[in-house]
Amino acid sequence: MSIPTTTRAALASKLPNVGTTIFTVMSKLATETGAINLSQGFPGFDCSPELVSLVEKYLRNGFNQYAPMTGVPALREALAQKTFAEYNVAYDPESEVTITSGATEAIFAAVAAVVRPGDEVIVLEPAYDSYVPAIELNGGIPVYVTLTPPDYAIDWQLVSEKITDKTRLILVNTPHNPTGYVWTADYLNQLANLVRDRNIWIVSDEVYEHILFDGRKHLSLMTHPELQERTFVVGSFGKTFHVTGWKIGYCLAPKELSTEFRKIHQYLTFSTVTPIQYALADYLNEPAHYHELPDFYQRKRDLFLAGLAGSRFTFKPAEGSFFQTVSYAAITQEPDYALTIRLTKEIGVASIPISVFYNQKNDYKMIRFCFAKNDDVLIQAAERLRGL
Ligand SMILES: Cc1ncc(COP(=O)(O)O)c(C=O)c1O
Repeated sequence: MSIPTTTRAALASKLPNVGTTIFTVMSKLATETGAINLSQGFPGFDCSPELVSLVEKYLRNGFNQYAPMTGVPALREALAQKTFAEYNVAYDPESEVTITSGATEAIFAAVAAVVRPGDEVIVLEPAYDSYVPAIELNGGIPVYVTLTPPDYAIDWQLVSEKITDKTRLILVNTPHNPTGYVWTADYLNQLANLVRDRNIWIVSDEVYEHILFDGRKHLSLMTHPELQERTFVVGSFGKTFHVTGWKIGYCLAPKELSTEFRKIHQYLTFSTVTPIQYALADYLNEPAHYHELPDFYQRKRDLFLAGLAGSRFTFKPAEGSFFQTVSYAAITQEPDYALTIRLTKEIGVASIPISVFYNQKNDYKMIRFCFAKNDDVLIQAAERLRGL
């Protein structure tokens, strides 16, 4: 008689299709092979020493216990003031601004606040990888609208055809990761026409709100009054101030939405790291700290693209974000995933295949580079890529 080694049942995965993310895979491979890592989206340079000194000041002065659940009042006030100055939209810091542990937490909490089992959620793909697990963990059903290169333009007729009585939420992202596209005023109007008189909420992921190029202006969904009243606008200080490792973000939403959002946030993390919130409250008061970003990143985008100019990659310059997508169709017909592995190992440049951002892993022979890196790194990477 065999003796059972365990009496428990196998744990059925709630996310059976989720494995190790490509970002982990590529960053690990880049480290192992010594490749230049243009895969994961994080700056290759440090944040401002002034910001570090501010955090140090608050650390040393005893600001080390739990922050209020909704965020430190000074930071909520500074953020509300900045938002009003930038977009002319007033959010009440007391009831409509919530500080979170990164945009990722804010996205999850907003989705959880709205989505019930069986609800449908419109996802415009390619899409950032946290959206679909957040929907599915809350019992929602992702309904995909597929955008394709070279323009990744949104077909609003198609979006409208996907809306049913079960549609509860639409997730949008501008400036967009991974494509670098940004929303137009027409998009805001089209979306408003679609959701009018319907019980549909919106999560707008605007973590790259300060990174737009060639004179473009960020069109936050909050600037359209009909959208503002039904939207959770999500931001990330990590992206804006080169501190992705601090995992600090926020959600701006009308009171009724924020109330429900906070009920979830309260039991996800309760509150967010205290000394950093105080430091950011001070740092936000100087608009130059974020107004300098378009020039800063446009120079890097242009430096990288100038380096690719003599190559066989084809591209449209990114309109925003710190990502550049390129087509390699003129070089090889290899699957994009295999190519990114080969480029990492053989020429020493790590990138991300765009197929991973599609639910069916659509392969359009496109890969993504992150250009938030030091100039010498970008020059060297482009030189290697030119050799292909
Ligand atoms: C589009 C998008 N949304 C959200 C996030 C996550 O932001 P955070 O690090 O603040 O959670 C990222 C990070 O790469 C992103 O690119």
